[in-house]
Parts: sequence; C-alpha cells; structure tokens
Amino acid sequence: ASYDMGGHDTYMHKEISEQADAVDRVLRGRIDEKFSTVHLGGLNLDAREARGIRRVKILGCGTSYHAGMIGASLIEGLARIPADSEPASEFRYRNPVVDPDTLYIAVSQSGETYDVLAAVQELKRKGARVLGVVNVVGSAIAREADGGVYVHAGPEVCVVSTKCFTNTVVAFALLALHLGRIRDLSVADGKRIIEGLRKLPGQIQEILEGEEDIKKLAAEYADAKSMMFIGRVRGYPVALEASLKLKEISYIHAEAYPASELKHGPLALIEPAMPTVAIVPNDSLLEKNRAAMEEIKARSGKILAVAHQVQEKADHTIIVPKNEDELDPILMGIPLQLLAYHTALALGRDIDKPRNLAKSVTVE
Ligand code: AGP
Repeated sequence: ASYDMGGHDTYMHKEISEQADAVDRVLRGRIDEKFSTVHLGGLNLDAREARGIRRVKILGCGTSYHAGMIGASLIEGLARIPADSEPASEFRYRNPVVDPDTLYIAVSQSGETYDVLAAVQELKRKGARVLGVVNVVGSAIAREADGGVYVHAGPEVCVVSTKCFTNTVVAFALLALHLGRIRDLSVADGKRIIEGLRKLPGQIQEILEGEEDIKKLAAEYADAKSMMFIGRVRGYPVALEASLKLKEISYIHAEAYPASELKHGPLALIEPAMPTVAIVPNDSLLEKNRAAMEEIKARSGKILAVAHQVQEKADHTIIVPKNEDELDPILMGIPLQLLAYHTALALGRDIDKPRNLAKSVTVE
C-alpha cells in the first residue's frame, strides 16, 4: 500500500508525528464519565466472566510483545490480576499449560504475524478464551480471536512500529481500566486514570515539539558502537522497545536491561564508548534509578536520561511531561523513537525499509 507522506521525508517521521491524533482516536467514544470506566464494544466478555479471570497471558512478537509487557503491568496494577507478556513464538513451542481461568490476549499491529496466529489457533483448539489487541481491522488474528480491542492507529507503513506501539499501550490502559472497574478499582482511581488518558494527546504533542533538541542529542550519540538502555519495572519495557527501535533502523548494537540487573553482569560493558539511555520517571523508584546512574558514572559511562526533571547524574536529560505513574511509560517511549530516527538519519540509513526486515512476518 502507498499512502501520502504528507510532506514528511519518511513514513516513520510521518507516523511518529501523528501520535497525538492516533491516541485521540483510540480513546474516542470509549470513555464513560458516569461510571469512571470505559466501553469496549468488541470485547465479548461480560462482567461475570471478567470477574472469573485468574490470570492474563499476553502474546505478541517484537514491538507488540513489548507493548504487551506494559499492558501486563497496567492490567496487574489496575485490575490486580496477575499478568505477563511472552513472545508468541516461545509460547507456542514450549507446550504451555492452557488454563481455562486464564484470559489470553494476542497483540499484533498487522494481525497477520504467523507465530501469533499459530498461538491463537492452538489456544482456541484447546478451548481457551483469546482476545485480540490488533490494529488492522478484519485481519487474520482479529477474525480468529473471540473478541478484542481495535487499536485504531491507522495505517502504519514504516517497517518499524511507532504510533501503533503507542496506541496499543493506550488500548491496554483502556482494557485494564475496564477490568479494574469491574473488579476492585475505585471510582476515584478510575477517574484519575481517565484524566491521565485525556491529557496524553496534548502531552505527546509537547514532546514532539522538542524534536530539534532530540536531533542534536542524536548527533551527539550517533558515533556510539553500542548503547545500553536501562529502566526499572515500568521503565524496563520502555528501555527494551527503545533499544529495539535503535537496532532496527540505525544498526547500532543496543542492549536493554532492568536497571537493577546492571550489577549482575552488564556493568562490565560500561565505558566511555558505551553510552546509556536511562528511563528515570519521578515515581517511588527515583532514588533507585539515581543510584544506578551513579554506578554508571563511576565507570565513566555517558548517560542520557529520559526523566520528568533534570538529572544531575546524567550528561543530558530529555524532559517529558508527567502523567499518572501508570501512564508515564506511554510518554517516555516517544522521545526515544525520535532519538532512533535522528540517529539513523545521521548515519544515512534507509529508515522506512531497514535491511533484513519485513513489516509483518507471515511465515514460520
Ligand atoms: C516493529 O518495529 C518490528 N518491525 C517488529 O518487531 C514487529 O513488531 C513484529 O514483527 C510484530 O508485528 P505485528 O505487530 O504486526 O504482529
């Protein structure tokens, strides 16, 4: 498919720039102010069934798997249901125990990724309930699932996913809020999350307006041979996704680690030639994250922090607007899409069509 680039040089840039509108779209018509919850028309899951769920297992590949990790933490945090995300490819090859009280959720931009589809088919054959969190309407995974939430990111042409990642996480926030409000999430907390969700498009626009500064930072880091990305709990999937994005389009080697794991091995890699991107939200883990930055500094590592306020330990800080703690990961990923983009651009890469990759992997 070919769509108008709308004055952008690449689809990736166009798609990054569209994210405020895209998030607006995934929210539109779904928020219920009266009950501080959301309506998700295609879910096919009544309140009694929703209360019976004992576990949530999210399955996806690549960026969708990372979006699922944030989704799992939203569901666990807001609905208090144990949840985790696993690469669909791993899941289907390990002969998993399929449990009738587990809700399975397949995540896919294209809705055609073979490993995800095969996992869904295997689950359905074993009688499991499977929902889809999918972008492409009417795609194979959307059709195969028992119900689900459309992500409404609009067409994504660039091989690497940006706006769909963001919208998928927002779709998970809606699902988590819905499940939470059927279970034990209070009206006040429901309201708090809804207010946070409503702030997202404006805050995303604010981040995008800082593009020139991020471009300068990209020039500063583009000669790195290798980069480390760290985050803690909610920040860890953000680090994973940012490192994947950088690898895919700039071909710079990148590692992502939970900040707490640094001292268990990867600290050995830290030296001036291996800069670190640190995800440092203003939440209860701020001091812990500062301590991790201190450990890196002590080894002469250069640090770029993504934070809500200037970080003294870091060489540079990209400041993002603060939202509710649960929703912060959505915003913290966005400047790092721009960082990957401008790094790849500085290195002269073919951004929309990175070598060796396909937009959707429809074979085994
Ligand atoms: C995204 O930047 C990648 N191209 C890739 O990891 C992708 O997310 C993965 O192949 C899954 O695709 P899907 O979301 O269409 O299922």
